[in-house]
Amino acid sequence: MTKLFLDSGDPKETKEALAVLGMIDGQTTNPSLIAKNPEAVGKKFTREEINEFYKGVVREISAQIPKGSVSVEVYADANTLAKDMIKQAGEFNLWIPNAHIKLPTTPEGLKAASELTKQGIKVNMTLVFNQSQAAAVYAATQGAKKGDVFVSPFVGRLDDRGENGMDLIKNILQMYRAGDGHVEVLAASIRSLEHFTKTIEFGCDIITAPLKA
Ligand code: G3P
Repeated sequence: MTKLFLDSGDPKETKEALAVLGMIDGQTTNPSLIAKNPEAVGKKFTREEINEFYKGVVREISAQIPKGSVSVEVYADANTLAKDMIKQAGEFNLWIPNAHIKLPTTPEGLKAASELTKQGIKVNMTLVFNQSQAAAVYAATQGAKKGDVFVSPFVGRLDDRGENGMDLIKNILQMYRAGDGHVEVLAASIRSLEHFTKTIEFGCDIITAPLKA
């Protein structure tokens, strides 16, 4: 059965989702969602301050869904090295007991994922736009337990640039069927009811969607 996550950086939305749906299986956050949190909008933070704010937010979320998974994303750009991501991941992982650390699916992010999964830290590999990235995630995290590694293809963003996001989900699921099942596919950047129904029809492991979807 497809698990349902909320894509939001606001614990008030967790509460709302729980009130509407009765339960959710997890929540995904990221730096841009955190910046959109009503308490952060318009404020200027140092890196230390944003980390403190982010920690408070994920703790509030985690307390509401203690049995779920909460994705916490490292601050990274095209030049961020694996060692910096590993350092942030180690720190963020201590904030809550149910974290998946989100890392970009770049060569350095993959290096970090390989190291972190060996340490038993759970990861969510994000910004996935093609099948090769998903294959690289599988290879980099060999040996991890099912549930410890998510791969997040960005369906809506692919549609935005004229590609078919749902095809990518289908192809990754098919490719992984030949494997040991240690990576779960998390459909992200979900915008429409069609994305929702198709993801479920394909038997995708997890779907994350904003409250309005
Ligand atoms: O789940 C990833 C998400 O936060 C990005 O969504 O709609 O901005 O592409 P979107």
